[in-house]
Amino acid sequence: MDGNARINPYLAGNFAPVRSEDDFDLKVTGEIPAGLRGALFRIGPNPQFEPKDPNHHWFFGDGMVHGFYVADGKVSYRNRYVHTPKWELEHEHGRSLFGGGSPMDNDPLTAGNEGGVANTNIVFHAGKLMALEEGHHPFEMDLKTLESRGYARPYKGNVTAHPKIDPKTGEMVWFAYGVGEMPLSAGMSYGVTDASGKVVRRDDFQAPYAAMVHDFMVTENHVLFPVLPLTASLERAMTGRPPFAWEPNKGSHVGVMRRDGDVSSIRWFNTEACYVFHPMNAWEVGDKLYCDVMRYNVAPLFPNADGSPGDKSAARLVRWTFDLAGASDAIKEEPLDDLDGEFPRVDPRFEMLKNRHGWYAADPGGAGTVRQSAIAHIDHQTGKRQVYALTGGDATSEPVFTPRSATADEGDGWITSVVCRAGEDRSDMLVFDALDIAKGPIGTAEMPRRMPFGFHGNWVSF
Ligand SMILES: [Fe+2]
Repeated sequence: MDGNARINPYLAGNFAPVRSEDDFDLKVTGEIPAGLRGALFRIGPNPQFEPKDPNHHWFFGDGMVHGFYVADGKVSYRNRYVHTPKWELEHEHGRSLFGGGSPMDNDPLTAGNEGGVANTNIVFHAGKLMALEEGHHPFEMDLKTLESRGYARPYKGNVTAHPKIDPKTGEMVWFAYGVGEMPLSAGMSYGVTDASGKVVRRDDFQAPYAAMVHDFMVTENHVLFPVLPLTASLERAMTGRPPFAWEPNKGSHVGVMRRDGDVSSIRWFNTEACYVFHPMNAWEVGDKLYCDVMRYNVAPLFPNADGSPGDKSAARLVRWTFDLAGASDAIKEEPLDDLDGEFPRVDPRFEMLKNRHGWYAADPGGAGTVRQSAIAHIDHQTGKRQVYALTGGDATSEPVFTPRSATADEGDGWITSVVCRAGEDRSDMLVFDALDIAKGPIGTAEMPRRMPFGFHGNWVSF
């Protein structure tokens, strides 16, 4: 903090960390359907100590997992820190030791510590609950107790926070960026974990330039790597400038390959400078690949290369088409929606397949990237959109779909989300009929305190 006692926005309001680990039975109003059994897991940054870096960025807080366990119409809540090597070392010393982005900002006590914050996504695959953050290995957590079990070593390096699970084969398809000897490099990896949890493939390739590659797209037979101009630069980081910055003159590149192909066969398609944190889904028909993505004109939350603040920008859903039979490497783009949004999701049984339904956190008031004040459902068959708008400054997390049964039609099920009640310093877990979002929640589980803003969530049935 500087002499003017400037409050870091990522340590204030509902960004501020919650430092207790609790177990609560939540008060339910309305109906939590008896068929909804399992848990909604959420994860986000929650710095264990006051950050060392006065310009602390939201992305660098220690991961905390929040579990909302649902059975027989009742909901209990449990939250636990992810005990990464960074968390353990700082816990031992009782203070923050790691800086923001550059290794030069770290306390000498961090030497030899592999770090990691495991704060971005929480994914269940092959019987393992994994807290993910793109700079490190997946980190295993106990499904029920949320005790930390440690890094999953078979990955032999960092893994995206956004792997895709193939609903037909059970494989987990993933990638990594910034791979190699030097940090902030253009090295990337393509990887596959089979349905039993065995890592069966990890192959390295070079991106057109070093960039933050947050997410990617996968279809039944293809994989797409979006390298968009939120660039990474060690040279910048070593000279006190931002390690990650917006550099639109580099253009946007998306590498396409067959899932069973060699990384040497990647074909790079192009479009104008833009940024995508999150695709909604991707699928293929014949020689064409389709990707519905939340597209920003300018990467939000990051500065320009000279360190000046970046422009404010909101995302909207667009469809990208890649014609594998065509001679052109241009990506065709068409708008799908006119509402600002983020955290787009589909019925997980339709990941990698043509989906009819999608849901996202929407921002009708244009309040900013994280404070989405509505939940939207888009039906590509009817072209209709439903919106449930929150009021009073309340904000929703990512909406997560759970089917009514394994054989229910696409979209027949529930949406769960966690909403910050701005006026009450508290949060609620809401349950909606997924195909009737506009009527509002059918059930609410009230938390006695708030859950800080976070990144992602997923439902696990058990
Ligand atoms: Fe993400």
